[in-house]
Amino acid sequence: MVAVCTVVLLLSTLVLGESTTHSLRVHERRDAAPLGFTHSGAANADHMLSLRIGLVQNNLQGLYDALNDVSDPSSDKYGQHLSREEVEAFVAPTSDSFSAATTWLNKNGLNATAVSPARDWLAVNISVSQANSLLSAEYSLFTHDATSTETIRTLEYSLPTDLQAHIDCVHPTTTFPSVINHSPILESWTRREDTGEVEARDVTPCGSGSPNMVPECLQAMYGIPTTPATQSSNQIAVTGYDGIYAEQADLQSFLTAYRPDVSNTTTYSVISVNNGTDPQWRENAGTEANLDIEYAVGLATNVSAYFVTVGGSFDDALLDAANYLLSMDSPPQVVSTSYGDNENVLSEKLANSICNAYAQLGARGVSILYASGDGGVSGNQASDNCTEFVPVFPASCPYVTTVGATTEQPTEIGASFSGGGFSNYFAQPAYQSAAVASYLSALGSNSSGLFNTTGRAYPDVSAYGTRYDIKSGAVSLIVSGTSCSTPTFAAIVALLNDQLLSAGKSVLGFLNPWLYSTAAGMGALNDVVGGNNLACSGGTTGFYAAQGWDPVTGLGTPNFTLLASAAGL
Ligand SMILES: *[C@@H]1O[C@H](CO)[C@@H](O)[C@H](O)[C@H]1NC(C)=O
Ligand SMILES: *[C@@H]1O[C@H](CO)[C@@H](O)[C@H](O)[C@H]1NC(C)=O
Ligand SMILES: *[C@@H]1O[C@H](CO)[C@@H](O)[C@H](O)[C@H]1NC(C)=O
Ligand SMILES: *[C@@H]1O[C@H](CO)[C@@H](O)[C@H](O)[C@H]1NC(C)=O
Ligand SMILES: *[C@@H]1O[C@H](CO)[C@@H](O)[C@H](O)[C@H]1NC(C)=O
Ligand SMILES: *[C@@H]1O[C@H](CO)[C@@H](O)[C@H](O)[C@H]1NC(C)=O
Ligand SMILES: *[C@@H]1O[C@H](CO)[C@@H](O)[C@H](O)[C@H]1NC(C)=O
Ligand SMILES: *[C@@H]1O[C@H](CO)[C@@H](O)[C@H](O)[C@H]1NC(C)=O
Ligand SMILES: *[C@@H]1O[C@H](CO)[C@@H](O)[C@H](O)[C@H]1NC(C)=O
Repeated sequence: MVAVCTVVLLLSTLVLGESTTHSLRVHERRDAAPLGFTHSGAANADHMLSLRIGLVQNNLQGLYDALNDVSDPSSDKYGQHLSREEVEAFVAPTSDSFSAATTWLNKNGLNATAVSPARDWLAVNISVSQANSLLSAEYSLFTHDATSTETIRTLEYSLPTDLQAHIDCVHPTTTFPSVINHSPILESWTRREDTGEVEARDVTPCGSGSPNMVPECLQAMYGIPTTPATQSSNQIAVTGYDGIYAEQADLQSFLTAYRPDVSNTTTYSVISVNNGTDPQWRENAGTEANLDIEYAVGLATNVSAYFVTVGGSFDDALLDAANYLLSMDSPPQVVSTSYGDNENVLSEKLANSICNAYAQLGARGVSILYASGDGGVSGNQASDNCTEFVPVFPASCPYVTTVGATTEQPTEIGASFSGGGFSNYFAQPAYQSAAVASYLSALGSNSSGLFNTTGRAYPDVSAYGTRYDIKSGAVSLIVSGTSCSTPTFAAIVALLNDQLLSAGKSVLGFLNPWLYSTAAGMGALNDVVGGNNLACSGGTTGFYAAQGWDPVTGLGTPNFTLLASAAGL
């Protein structure tokens, strides 16, 4: 360790030559900025970057094996979730890695702070010119054409060769920020002050065709219990990003209108991560956050609910939220997120690292659910001009349960916007290989060459996702999207957990090995066989729902009674 006074001296004189005398090797690079970003000049040399440095985790294979043991219903360790300490032991960097990285930073006048509980992430504030020298990078200004948002990124960076075995990745470097407008698809809205009275609806709930969806109807469709959950240790969380917050007053009107059988004072707690906002300024409340909280609270009757509002840009925020949950001794057992971005805007190493954080949460018994995106095969949101199918992250992470959308009653079909596809970063996990192989063999040469047949395939499951009634900003709205489906499925998992806990059993945790198991989850889902998802224009068609698993509706939609008995209840 370099003495403190030396560090201060180095800082004040900005002696940065040290690292460049070591031989540096390119660690990550991308050929060009993602589509839609244009290089628009040099970055201001004095601009401060908040760099995060991911250290190599000492035993990822051990983590994956442990996760599989506790999540695979055929394993004798099924349900025996790991403690925080047990999980941290797999991912903590070795002391060699930790000291190699901190010594290198200290020699360059930098003092890093560990920002994750296992000390596998360090953070350091550094100017663009320092970062360019330290990482042999070329931080530049990139402008997102459609929104004129400016961002500072580099297309490649290097590390000293002797550090490549110790440092996994540095961020922000080649990951571009999310510029997607994260909102559900707005179908219609009524500009009127909410009176709290039940509205006269234009169609009866739960009819046929495409009715407006309310909790009562979802409860009937999927057999979701309306009776209150009873276990005080049981929790559900929904996460919110990009400054989008949920509004307590909107939830109250929602409950008054659509859950007259529960007290309209039922509420949720707010957890702010990284200075995430929650101003409770009703006019500016977000439709996404209100949708998520209203259906999580409105369906998971009497389960303690949390809204986790995460500050910072989406890529940083995903990491911060995961590290925050990992730092909790008892994280919420179900976490629902209706946000995502195109996989290719993230660096592969960063995506891997965030995904590994979900593996850690899974090993601890947390079910992580993500929306599959609203762009069919063309990414998180419909994009006209893709020439290949665009997977969405974190939907493409094999350690999350990804939820697609259906529509129509009484026979559900895949919704056209329902995101589905195959990762280019993550290999197909064993739990889904049989289900995906049957789909691919039936697919034949359809869409051949447009997607990666060996990648992690998603969604895993689906739930109804069109024309949900919500209250937002004192206004009634009707919205659609996989953002609707995800909190619905998450609420079902929370209610299953409640029954498991009250029977003295452990919660479901990482769901996928259970869901894909023919002996357990698979038969408890309604197979959806109609519909297809949106394509990129220019001659490509999307995927079609089919018998068994498919990349529009996954394994299907829930049947609570069957899921409960598959869970041993
Ligand atoms: C880094 O900063 C912390 C406090 O922020 C201080 O305790 C520590 O001594 C510093 N380390 C070095 C090497 O300067
Ligand atoms: C970087 O700067 C910000 C804002 O000044 C501060 O909140 C943060 O703690 C700093 N991070 C580190 C690792 O020093
Ligand atoms: C909540 O319910 C009570 C009746 O129990 C009702 O008087 C009140 O108006 C409701 N609040 C809102 C905001 O709808
Ligand atoms: C769930 O499945 C059972 C058995 O197939 C069926 O009888 C029941 O109607 C289903 N529940 C719902 C709500 O569809
Ligand atoms: C709601 O759950 C709490 C435990 O969190 C329990 O004590 C209470 O009885 C439940 N309420 C009802 C109406 O069952
Ligand atoms: C946190 O947010 C508040 C306002 O929302 C702002 O005033 C404050 O500067 C922020 N703090 C940091 C460290 O970003
Ligand atoms: C798609 O391509 C057409 C022409 O090929 C162009 O006019 C249009 O702006 C493009 N759309 C997007 C969203 O890039
Ligand atoms: C396809 O996915 C595999 C992982 O299964 C990955 O190794 C490969 O690079 C991907 N191919 C492309 C073209 O992205
Ligand atoms: C293949 O594509 C055609 C339309 O181009 C569609 O009708 C058919 O259902 C697809 N087959 C499968 C197995 O997805």
